[in-house]
This record gives sequence, structure tokens and C-alpha cells, in this order.
Amino acid sequence: MIKMAPSILSANFAALLEDVMMVEEAGAEYLHIDVMDGRFVPNITIGPLVVEALRPRCAMLFDVHLMIERPELHVESFINAGADLVTVHVESGGHLHRTLSLIREKGARAGIALNPATHPSTLEYVLPMVDLVLLMTVNPGFGGQKLIPEVLPKITAVKDMLKERGLQAEVQVDGGINSSTAAAVVKAGADVLVAGSAIFGREDIAAAVRELRKAALRG
Ligand code: DX5
Ligand code: ZN
Repeated sequence: MIKMAPSILSANFAALLEDVMMVEEAGAEYLHIDVMDGRFVPNITIGPLVVEALRPRCAMLFDVHLMIERPELHVESFINAGADLVTVHVESGGHLHRTLSLIREKGARAGIALNPATHPSTLEYVLPMVDLVLLMTVNPGFGGQKLIPEVLPKITAVKDMLKERGLQAEVQVDGGINSSTAAAVVKAGADVLVAGSAIFGREDIAAAVRELRKAALRG
């Protein structure tokens, strides 16, 4: 089964709850929440207050993607606000092992993200500590970019690494996913698809979720 993770980065922030309800009713499994600090990436977006406000209003798994420096300082506040899964970037530095342990200790699932140019060997010593590996197929910072096809073999490589080690972590792919690119990404091994502009950028948001799932199943 392929899971859908609509990214609220492309939602209408003036009517955020309505947009979120639409993807939930359309059957999306995860709500992908892109957190940016204007340092790790050039953009600034959402903080724990938004997570906290949405939490009592929907049941989807809250998937918080931290594109920030010093993520260890903020993990706890996002979990307290209602995050179910917290993903941190390998490239954000610090003591990755300690940050991932902290996420699980505080009761959430732990995810690790890799930018397009980062080699999967960086996962080697932390792979058993994660519930999800997020592979970026665009350079993080903005929605609406084109998928970088050179990353596709990395999806398969990570899937193989997990299989060889008998690990159950999911592989999530993020960036430039739409009805034209979904099948290739799934074929390469993706379990969870993040999509911002292809879902919230559309007039009929619910139809966009269903369309993307259909396209993914062709993979
Ligand atoms: C980019 C974010 C993505 C973004 C994807 O830095 O991590 O989650 O919302 O947007 P689309 O689907 O439009 O490429
Ligand atoms: Zn993201």
C-alpha cells in the first residue's frame, strides 16, 4: 500500500483547517508539515503552534519535516504539540544519534532525511534507529519545484539497505511528486509520497489526492 502525505506548505494558510479536512476526508494517511527556519533553508514557515492548533481537529498522522538548524532544541516542543513522526536532516548536523534517540524517547516515531546530493551511506550507523527515511527529490526550501530524476536510484538503494538489514522503516519521497512522476518513484521503492503543489495547488483538493493515489498504483 502506498501512503499519501499532502504537504500543507502549498495549502491556503487563510483557510488551513478547511484544506486539511479535505485531504483527511479524501483518505490521506499522513499530514506532512514542513518546518523551515530561514537558516538551514532560505524560507521560514510553520512552528509548533500551528501543529497544536490542528491536532485536535484531525486524526491523520502528523508528519513533521524539520528543515532547521539545531533540531534537537525543538523536537520536544513539536512532539508536545502533537507530532507523531519527527524527521530531521542528516545535513543539519549536531549529534544525530542523540537527536533520533530523543525523538523516540519523547514518544514519537523518528525519521531521517537526505538532501538530493547526500549519499545513502550517511544512514549506515543510524538506520536501526529510524522508522522512516525521507529522500528529498528537490533541494529543500520551496514547494512547486521539479523532481530531480538522478535521485531515483537512491530510493532503490535505501530500500535495499533496509531489506538487507531486515529493517521495517518506510521510505518517503518528497519534492516534485505529481501524477506524472508518482509511478516512477513508487517503482523505485517509495512507500510514502509527499505532495504539496500537486494536491493543495489544485482546485479540487480531494480529487487530487485520489488522482495521485491512482497514479502511484501504476508504479
Ligand atoms: C520542500 C518540502 C516539500 C514541499 C514539496 O522543501 O520539504 O515537502 O512541500 O512540495 P511539492 O510537492 O510542491 O514539490
Ligand atoms: Zn517536506
